[in-house]
Amino acid sequence: MIREILKMGTSSLMQVSAPLPHAAFGSPELHELLTDMNETMIAANGAGLAAPQIGENLRVVIFELKNNPRYPDAEPVPFTVLINPELTPLSPELEDGWEGCLSVPGMRGLVPRHLKLRYTGFDENGHKIDRTVSGWHARVVQHECDHLDGVLYPMRMNDMSHFGFTEVLFPELAGQDDD
Ligand code: NI
Repeated sequence: MIREILKMGTSSLMQVSAPLPHAAFGSPELHELLTDMNETMIAANGAGLAAPQIGENLRVVIFELKNNPRYPDAEPVPFTVLINPELTPLSPELEDGWEGCLSVPGMRGLVPRHLKLRYTGFDENGHKIDRTVSGWHARVVQHECDHLDGVLYPMRMNDMSHFGFTEVLFPELAGQDDD
């Protein structure tokens, strides 16, 4: 079921979400949540979605990138369900890159992120995930996992002159991330 995506200003988006309980792995309830998240992400042309964005304050994110019109220049990222994630930066340096967010519709901002990181966590059935990634893959993981700590990308920006409307900054992308 396509769910409503909560927008910035909603207090629950600013909360720290709870870990998924062990007993919930492999459950029909988790499967339904993930189905809703995937349908909602696809309907919005998103490249990632965190459970708090549909009002479920659990440490569950999904992401995928293939031929996404919102991110025409990014390398593909396989569809991933990541639960109870832990991130370890592997490079001290940060790189600025443009981000959008389905909870901040119609906007883009330049956000510093770690270039390379290792992430661990679990898939839907509780199997361990352990990946070392860089570039756009590293960026989307940092963005989605920030949602689990109540952080939206504008809160990571250090130069608000690089925050604006997609239709102004990137006219060729206009309308593709509006509700
Ligand atoms: Ni987001």
